[in-house]
Amino acid sequence: MADVAPNVSPVSDYDRIGGGRAVSAVVDKFYGSVLADAQLAPFFDGLDMGRLKRHQVLLISQVMGGPVEYDGRNLRDAHDGMNITRDQFGRVVDHLVTALKDASVPDDVIGRLGAQLGAAEQDVVAG
Ligand code: HEM
Repeated sequence: MADVAPNVSPVSDYDRIGGGRAVSAVVDKFYGSVLADAQLAPFFDGLDMGRLKRHQVLLISQVMGGPVEYDGRNLRDAHDGMNITRDQFGRVVDHLVTALKDASVPDDVIGRLGAQLGAAEQDVVAG
């Protein structure tokens, strides 16, 4: 049996947490908390939340190594002209981290996702 290669294929963070269904559940919860946050809700007034959720699920899935491709706008264009502050950015990230923790996503996975999305701060925050 020496010629049978061991299974060394790395498991993506996306697969580790349960794939698309898990990401969708986290994103639903995330936008629930964002819309319940009086400092953030006005940004989303009148928006098609279904489309936004779909794009957010794709982005997070892609960042976690899932077999999908984000097809929304780049983050600078998507947030252009909204005058989002650093504080508001931090609140959004906090809501996402809380939703991930509530779904029992492991800390190392949250850390990697947080580092990648946190790096988008200069594209999202005004100035
Ligand atoms: C890590 C931080 C963030 C990420 C990864 C992120 C990601 C995204 C994505 C993927 C979209 C969809 C773009 C599209 O449909 O083409 C989007 C849209 C949007 N984001 Fe964010 N976002 C972040 C922070 C924020 C913050 C801090 C706010 C407001 C305080 C915000 C408000 C919005 C709004 C209002 C839209 C809808 C824009 C539109 O459809 O016209 N986002 N965001």
